[in-house]
Amino acid sequence: MKNSVYVLGSVNYDLMICSKRMPVQGETISGYGYFEAIGGKGANQAAACAKLGCLTNLIGCVGADYHGQCALDGLNRVGIKTDHLRVSKSENTGKAIIIKTGNDNRIIINQGANGCISKQQIEEALKNAEGEFFLTQFETPLDLVYEGLKCAKKLNMTTVVNPAPAIAVDMKFYELIDYLVLNQSESEILTGIFPNDQDDCEKAAKILFDRGVKHVVFTLGSSGSIYIDGETRLKIAPFHVKVADTTGAGDTYIGTMLYGLTQNWPIEKVLTSASAAGALACTKEGAQEALPTYEELVTFLKEGGYYE
Ligand code: RIB
Repeated sequence: MKNSVYVLGSVNYDLMICSKRMPVQGETISGYGYFEAIGGKGANQAAACAKLGCLTNLIGCVGADYHGQCALDGLNRVGIKTDHLRVSKSENTGKAIIIKTGNDNRIIINQGANGCISKQQIEEALKNAEGEFFLTQFETPLDLVYEGLKCAKKLNMTTVVNPAPAIAVDMKFYELIDYLVLNQSESEILTGIFPNDQDDCEKAAKILFDRGVKHVVFTLGSSGSIYIDGETRLKIAPFHVKVADTTGAGDTYIGTMLYGLTQNWPIEKVLTSASAAGALACTKEGAQEALPTYEELVTFLKEGGYYE
């Protein structure tokens, strides 16, 4: 019975400052707002999934510092199982410096303790995970992402990969991926195609299928998302909201998608819900602060005329 999710991924502490524009070289400018919160693509995706009510395990590492403790407390509060979250004595908790200008944001990451996850830790975490869902990103060391995928496939798990931050990886990764969820710039780095429409997505998906991926989801920002597998093509319309902050919107989409997969929903419902949750996440500041609950998601979907 597939009903739980194992996320191998990063935990960061996000330090976000808002400014009217980006400073130019050598310049110091005044911002107008500061915000800090738990982040990291792994933690955000796990939190989105757990907050909707799914049994979610996070395999990762934080530092033995104040931010690591904040992260642990926060992740436990949303119901993530943290038994396999290590605490490193030698490295500080990962940090993300986020500069937000209008609806745009730029992020720089310091990997810190995210680099201290071990292969043994992954194997131990997955030993009772036969047949469940495995989700990972590229914010932890890539050799361990690969080990995680290999281990997950040996255990017949369904694997979902969000290749962010994008980097061209060895071909051996692709045959281990059931679902690849990527945005336009990630697609460009992995396939050489920046998809603007269905045709571009078809071409990029063909490249990924030839490498061994089974299902591809392209997230196209305000143009919605496109799903392609061997037989099905779906275009999911975007949900329009008043945007406060887009940080973590993609992570919310992916965490919600995992929730939908564990519920065995039809793929159209999975991706429509993911898209709705991603939009809701843009209505508040911060990555995890903005995650919707199941009730909020259902209400929003019903208001939009879905799933009465
Ligand atoms: O996707 C948003 C996340 O990217 C932030 O929370 C930040 O920590 C970086 O990992």
